[in-house]
Amino acid sequence: MSFILRGLLSGGRAVYRARAPCLHYGSVAPDICERTLVAVKPDGVQRRLVGEIIKRFEKRGFKLVGMKLLQAPEGILSEHYHDLQKKPFYPALIHYMASGPVVAMVWEGHNVVKSSRLMVGETDSSQAKPGTVRGDFSVHISRNVIHASDSVEVAEKEIGLWFHRAELVSWETNDHIDLYQV
Ligand code: TYD
Repeated sequence: MSFILRGLLSGGRAVYRARAPCLHYGSVAPDICERTLVAVKPDGVQRRLVGEIIKRFEKRGFKLVGMKLLQAPEGILSEHYHDLQKKPFYPALIHYMASGPVVAMVWEGHNVVKSSRLMVGETDSSQAKPGTVRGDFSVHISRNVIHASDSVEVAEKEIGLWFHRAELVSWETNDHIDLYQV
């Protein structure tokens, strides 16, 4: 959709724009439009942690611009974990990631890539600090509940892998004045 979508949300305050990221903030603070891929892995979905995870990102102040529940195709998983193909745990990782549905999301906001990684916690759950998703809900690296992109470049690539452009929604919030001094 290349046209502007306008819709009602929260008393008619939100305006949806397809394929128009960051138009509403212009060049004042482009970094608040940084995006990252977050995915609740099959164990997280099975354990009904999707709502808890969304709540954390919303409360932090990030904006959800894409979300879907899917049974991840093997092609996406092998591309997503391409760099780990030679690791001994790779077959088990792919099997686990294909074992049930995943909730893939795109979150937007200032420094969202780095902040998400801090919210997610260490890869090895036994090292993840309390207060992080993995530190609160996971005990082992092989079932660590959640994925978050580890750099801006990787985020861009992963978002392109998991989402079609038309599945991402650029929309204005009225709370950015409370979240950012721009
Ligand atoms: P990695 O990309 O290194 O970590 P992260 O998810 O924190 O970016 O690894 C991808 C996933 O592979 C990781 O979330 C869990 C799994 N994994 C294992 O099962 N065993 C391991 O020893 C490692 C390093 C990762």
